[in-house]
Amino acid sequence: MNILAIESSCDETAAAVVTNGREIRSNLVLSQIEEHAVYGGVVPEIASRRHVEAIVPLADAALKEAGLSKKEIDAVAVTYAPGLIGALLVGLNFAKSVALGLDVPLIPVHHLRGHIAANFLAFPELKPPFLCLMVSGGNTLLVDVRDYTDMVILGRTRDDAAGECFDKVARVLGYPYPGGKAIESLAKTGDPTAYPFPRANIQEAPLDMSFSGLKTAVVNLIHNAEQKGTKVDKAAVAASFQAAVRDMLIPRTAQALQQTGHSVLVAAGGVAANGVIREALKQMAQEMGRKLYLPPLALCGDNAAMIAAQGYYEYQAGHVADMTLNAYANMEIGKNDWTTSR
Ligand code: KG4
Repeated sequence: MNILAIESSCDETAAAVVTNGREIRSNLVLSQIEEHAVYGGVVPEIASRRHVEAIVPLADAALKEAGLSKKEIDAVAVTYAPGLIGALLVGLNFAKSVALGLDVPLIPVHHLRGHIAANFLAFPELKPPFLCLMVSGGNTLLVDVRDYTDMVILGRTRDDAAGECFDKVARVLGYPYPGGKAIESLAKTGDPTAYPFPRANIQEAPLDMSFSGLKTAVVNLIHNAEQKGTKVDKAAVAASFQAAVRDMLIPRTAQALQQTGHSVLVAAGGVAANGVIREALKQMAQEMGRKLYLPPLALCGDNAAMIAAQGYYEYQAGHVADMTLNAYANMEIGKNDWTTSR
């Protein structure tokens, strides 16, 4: 089954063709990052406009690279939630028109389920059930993946996502959006114990996380230094911050593994590209005797191949939408309900 997938939930326009949910035929991503960087974050209106300009030629190019004609496409999968609503609507309406024109099924895909499915593309043997640590720019979750389309959130951030925090810290340290990678590079020469940044605990929900206190602590440190005209050791700030994020993610992931008894741990999302977090996950999985899957860096960020991969399993589960399909800015990963509030 050849699925053409479209992803436009944020600042990347993406189109891909994947066969049987596992074999990438093409995977094209057009990033708008440079354009948004001057504003320090994604500007929704600009994102939507750029998606409109890019989507048609990009989908054509994805088909061409896959070496397939339109007639050989069996279904169209599209990210319908969560994300920037205007941006989502561009991809959604395009996908609807393609599905209608080709007379093939339209498969609604939850963006975060797609991030998890990126691992199916990289690891042919990987199958649910497993535990997933999802750390992206907009979300930080511990997900019990019971089956391809059956997921339950075990823990989540109560405020900022880990990636959002990396981006904010990068910004106050003078690096452009998105700053996760820059923080990681900067941290390489810094002392991770130099600044004792807070690691929040939520007593009544031990698997939940909170990153806003950490973010505020870093921002206050930099602003105070600026006001006093003193210098901070930027590399040490980056390293100490990164260590605090790691220390918030790893013990909770370990606890969730204990709680569920899962023998397999999977990471997903842009922050899963971080070397320090990857190393800590490897060590923890080894100590606990669990198998760990880390998505290749190229599949950690937003792309459409992951949407096609998840789309394949949504289709197997009978999840097909009609032309009334809407986009949703918010949607819980376990709920994934495209039939409500039309
Ligand atoms: O999953 P993703 O591409 O987009 C969302 O769907 O949210 O994640 C983007 C996030 C950004 O916040 C970016 O700064 C962060 O992932 N990121 C990193 C690294 N590479 C990307 N954070 C820490 N270390 C990295 N190496």
